[in-house]
Amino acid sequence: MQVIENKVQLRAALKQARAGGKSVGFVPTMGYLHDGHAALIDRARNENDVAVVSVFVNPTQFGPNEDLAAYPRDAERDLALMRAHGVDLAFFPGVEDLYPPGYTTYVTVEGPMTQTLCGRSRPGHFRGVATIVTKLFHLVAPDRAYFGQKDCQQVAVLQRMVRDLDFDLQIVVCPTVREVDGLAMSSRNVYLSAEQRTQAPRIAQALFEAREMIAKGERRATVLAEYIKKSIATIDSAAIDYVSIADSQTLSDCEMISGEVLIAVAVKIGRTRLIDNIRVEV
Ligand code: PAF
Repeated sequence: MQVIENKVQLRAALKQARAGGKSVGFVPTMGYLHDGHAALIDRARNENDVAVVSVFVNPTQFGPNEDLAAYPRDAERDLALMRAHGVDLAFFPGVEDLYPPGYTTYVTVEGPMTQTLCGRSRPGHFRGVATIVTKLFHLVAPDRAYFGQKDCQQVAVLQRMVRDLDFDLQIVVCPTVREVDGLAMSSRNVYLSAEQRTQAPRIAQALFEAREMIAKGERRATVLAEYIKKSIATIDSAAIDYVSIADSQTLSDCEMISGEVLIAVAVKIGRTRLIDNIRVEV
């Protein structure tokens, strides 16, 4: 595995790696890798000749009162996981390499898609995500890029961006990887206290129970959302940011369940903000 720390080296390494028409699979991450990332890497490894993973805690997607400084980082652990999963190129750029002094160019996906759900409580977040992913796509020029369904809104925004800006690549969406008790894997789970960690799986349980209710015939979004809110409210110090039942493509709210819907939640447990979602088709 080649470990690369700046974009000039990355371009040179990719030029060589791609020789003879080899395909490139790319997994962009913010590091502190877990089994969810490992699943993305395995898929990239299996579907492409060359697997590239970036680790960059992107400052432009964090709001002023968010956890940029505290975001967990462990490069050695990340490198060990990448080696174990057969990554070819590990890209660890510095902030100044991607945002040099005087940097002023941003990518914005307009419209409700970036204003609902997380966009409401994290203004500017998706502008930061779209900007860094655009830059990384230009640098890596992958054939396929891999993202987790756990970040469902990010996936929808990036799919729209790829379509609108004519990126010549395929976005591959991989299922959410869960702990045995159902909690969606996230680098932020490390912030939870032991007590909070025992209660956090109730978020996923509430979503799975809502899916059961739909299977038994419930179609009213308000009834399902109320049920999820009540279940999550039993977690000590939980503050619900949103419970959304929305069209899975446009993310606009639904009144009745029909077609493919996304049931998505964001909850703060203490100071830790967790998101989760399921897709349901009727
Ligand atoms: O999902 C993430 O880890 C980040 O939002 C991403 C896509 C790497 C952009 O910084």
